[in-house]
Amino acid sequence: MAKLRAFSGIQPSGDLHLGNYLGAIRNWVLEQHDRENIFCVVDLHAITLPQDPKLLHKRIRDLAKIYIACGIDPESVAIFVQSHIKEHAELAWLFNCLTPIGWLNRMTQFKEKTGDRRDQSSAGLFVYPALMAADILLYQADGVPVGEDQKQHVELTRDIAEKFNREYAPVFKVPQPWIKEDGARVMALDDPTKKMSKSGGPNNLIYMLDDPDVIVKRIKRAVTDTGTTVVFDSQRPGLFNLLEIYLLLSKPGTTKEAVEEHFAGKGYGALKSELAELVVETLKPVQQKYHEISEDPNYIEEILKRGADRVRPIAARTLDDAKAAMGLG
Ligand code: TYM
Repeated sequence: MAKLRAFSGIQPSGDLHLGNYLGAIRNWVLEQHDRENIFCVVDLHAITLPQDPKLLHKRIRDLAKIYIACGIDPESVAIFVQSHIKEHAELAWLFNCLTPIGWLNRMTQFKEKTGDRRDQSSAGLFVYPALMAADILLYQADGVPVGEDQKQHVELTRDIAEKFNREYAPVFKVPQPWIKEDGARVMALDDPTKKMSKSGGPNNLIYMLDDPDVIVKRIKRAVTDTGTTVVFDSQRPGLFNLLEIYLLLSKPGTTKEAVEEHFAGKGYGALKSELAELVVETLKPVQQKYHEISEDPNYIEEILKRGADRVRPIAARTLDDAKAAMGLG
C-alpha cells in the first residue's frame, strides 16, 4: 500500500525553539519512515513581517540544517525552500481570488499578530493562510503534522480545497491536520498561560542551539506556583508544562504515573534540575550535528537543490490542473 504523504513547514523568522521541536519536528522524525514526507522552509511566509535580508538568508539555511540535525533523513525526505518553487506564490494568488475575506477575518493568528495595528500590517500577513493552503494543496498531501496553533489554518486549507473542487473541478486532495495530543502546545516558561513563541520575550523559550548554562538558567527561572507535590495537575499550568516537556523528552513508553512516582517526595527544585539536564542532553547531539553540517556550506545547498528538484514536478502538475480548471491561459 502506498504511504500517506505528509507536508509541513516552519518559518525561518527566528531561531528554532523547543516548542517547534516538540510540536512539530520531533513528530516528523518519529514518523518519517511510515510516510512519504515533504518538509519546507517557508521563507515567503517569513516576509509577511519585516526581515533583515542577510539574516533571513542565513536563517533559511540554519533551519534546514536543524531539520537534519534533529534526525530528518535528507536521503528519503524532500527538504526544500518555499521560494525555490514558484508555484507556491502562483497558486496562492488563485486562492486569494477564491477565498472570501470573511474566512480570513476569522483567523485568530492574524488578530494576535496585528493587535490594534491591523491597518499598518502587510496585505501579505492577511492572506498568509491562502499561501499556506497553496503549500499543502500543491503536493496533494494527506496530512499536515503541526502543533495546535496551526489547526485553524489547516481547517481553512480544507475549506479552500473543498470550495475549489466544488466550484471548478476535483483537483485537490483534502488534507487532515495531524496533531498529537502531547507536545501540541508547549507553554511559555515565564508565563504558562501563553504558548512558547518566537515573538515572546527571551525568557519564554529555549532555543535549539542555546548553551547548556542558558538552558539551566531559563528552566530554573520558569514560573511555577507555591505547591510542593510534583504531579500532572492542569490547575498548576507552570508545573504541568514542565512535566509535559519532561515526559516528552523521556524514554519512549514512559508514562505520567512513572514520572510522578519518580518525583514523589521531591520538590520543584529537583524537577527543574532534572528537566534542565534532560533538555541539555537531548539538544547536545542536535547541536553537534548542526555544527558538523555547518562546516561544509555546499552540503545544505545541495540538499535544498535536490529537494526542490524532487518536488517541483508535483507542484507544476497540480498548478497546471488548477489553472486549466479555472480556464486560465
Ligand atoms: P511556525 O513557524 O510558527 O511553527 C512551526 C511549527 O511549530 C509548531 N509550534 C508549536 N508547537 C507546540 N508548542 C508551541 N509553543 C509551538 N510553537 C510553534 C507550530 O504549530 C508549527 O507546526 N504557518 C506555519 C508555517 C507554515 C506551514 C505551512 C505549516 C506555512 N505553510 C504548511 C504546515 C504546512 C507557522 O507559522 O508555523
